[in-house]
Amino acid sequence: MCDSCPCQQEEKPQPVSQNQFTRRSAVGLAGAAAGSLTLSACSSSQSESLTDDAGGPSAPTDMAAAADVPVGGVIKATASGVSVMIAQPSEGQFRAFSSVCTHQGCQLNAQMEKSMTCPCHSSVFSLEDGSPTGGPAETALAQFPVEVKEGRIWVG
Ligand code: FES
Repeated sequence: MCDSCPCQQEEKPQPVSQNQFTRRSAVGLAGAAAGSLTLSACSSSQSESLTDDAGGPSAPTDMAAAADVPVGGVIKATASGVSVMIAQPSEGQFRAFSSVCTHQGCQLNAQMEKSMTCPCHSSVFSLEDGSPTGGPAETALAQFPVEVKEGRIWVG
């Protein structure tokens, strides 16, 4: 429920026959349409979060083809509006990390598909465990469960 948002105070639109259509009813319909948009926004933000608390997918999500992740490298993958870093530090060993830098929250890059780097202040993170290996970040990246199924990488 969203008790404090305007969607709880919405009026239902009344059906209007064509000969009853007046300027006043047009204004009312416009207000009802705006209320519906507000209701939609409230519903989606409260019942279906796409991310968990650490910014990873809230449910197992097909993020990439395993073949797209180089051995000893990393890619940045986005699915359903969620971005994660997917690394393969050694052959067949996949890891998924948050793409949010632990220093001040910038989005990481998969630099040349070789390292996880932050464009803001140049922090670098380990492909093995997400720990910081350079720059000002002091905390490891959040890590998410990974499963490889039929050549696809599922994260979350
Ligand atoms: S925000 Fe990433 S290094 Fe500062």
